[in-house]
Amino acid sequence: MNGLERDLEEIKNSLGTLSRQVGGNNFLVTGGAGFIGSWFCDALISMGGRVVCVDNLSSGDEKNIEHLKREKKFKFMKVPVEKFEPEEKFDFIVHMASIASPPLYQKFPIETLDSGVIGTKRMLELAAKQKVKSFLFTSTSEIYGNPPEEMVPTPESYYGYVNSFGPRSMYDESKRCAEAYCYSYWKQFGVPVRVARIFNTYGPRLDTKNPTGYGRALIKFVYLAINDRPINIYGNGEQTRSFCYITDQVAGLLKLLLKTGINGEVFNIGSDDEVSINNLIRAILRLTNSSSKLINTRPAYDITDDPTRRKPDITKAKKILQWGPNMGLEGGLEKTIRWVKAGKD
Ligand SMILES: NC(=O)c1ccc[n+]([C@@H]2O[C@H](COP(=O)([O-])OP(=O)(O)OC[C@H]3O[C@@H](n4cnc5c(N)ncnc54)[C@H](O)[C@@H]3O)[C@@H](O)[C@H]2O)c1
Repeated sequence: MNGLERDLEEIKNSLGTLSRQVGGNNFLVTGGAGFIGSWFCDALISMGGRVVCVDNLSSGDEKNIEHLKREKKFKFMKVPVEKFEPEEKFDFIVHMASIASPPLYQKFPIETLDSGVIGTKRMLELAAKQKVKSFLFTSTSEIYGNPPEEMVPTPESYYGYVNSFGPRSMYDESKRCAEAYCYSYWKQFGVPVRVARIFNTYGPRLDTKNPTGYGRALIKFVYLAINDRPINIYGNGEQTRSFCYITDQVAGLLKLLLKTGINGEVFNIGSDDEVSINNLIRAILRLTNSSSKLINTRPAYDITDDPTRRKPDITKAKKILQWGPNMGLEGGLEKTIRWVKAGKD
């Protein structure tokens, strides 16, 4: 068994009997050539599902799914989700297509809004027409904006403190609008929607195409540290994030998709192990034995409205999905570093 197969086996084991619902079913995964999407496709294929992956490769990378193209049960369609015309009937729809990193969504704000709003509406229409068994939308912790101290850890019941007219608004508000569409298609047409509010997730394949340019901190630090290049810290580095390893994330999303009796529910899926950016960098430098210098210059994109603290309250996922993260930060970093060093990009 290679490393990927072992990880997929772990995901399957954590699903318990739910994994039996995958085999023989047809899945549509939008954004399936991206980081989380490609892992999701891998997991479904390994459990006997049939997968149609729709992706326009705006931030995803065909390399992430190259190995899957050999599988008979896997089909890749390079098309924007807003224009996707289905040729088959789906049992499950997982809608992940979205530009997800700040420099990219600031560069392509209209496209970001379109995939979030028009793309989500189109996928929900399809779900209603095809009467799917369940529909999973991947939302984000960004819909909470920059919560006040008393709202960290942040529960699903918190409404958010979000700037609708600023450099993050094209992403944050498109996800908020998409959630409202999910709610409305559930209420009006009974579409069995489930919403995952994903908190920072990392691991192999994150930003494969442009790891140092897409702005997702952890993978950028790993690449820079391995190459002994300077690492830029924005602000004082005391801002926090809670990083979830990819296998835990995919297991949580699969549970949310496959479990019955949770239509119309929203779940935070992420790690609740909060770490400051300074401490994250220290850990990466130590694990890579790096001599990278730390610098403090203005980033190439606008970091206004960047949240100060980010940590989910995952009580609901623990109780209802019987899900929680298993991988600690150090273990996940080691795996990620090994993967980057092996040049699997
Ligand atoms: N990784 C995280 O930490 C994180 C955190 C919060 C939310 N999310 C959400 O999870 C989902 C997956 O994120 P990811 O980290 O894998 O990002 P990613 O950029 O690796 O994957 C997103 C994929 O969507 C594709 N895409 C974008 N717009 C599209 C369109 N209009 N039509 C078709 N395909 C399109 C991209 O090419 C890419 O392959 C996204 O919805 C993102 O908002 C991720």
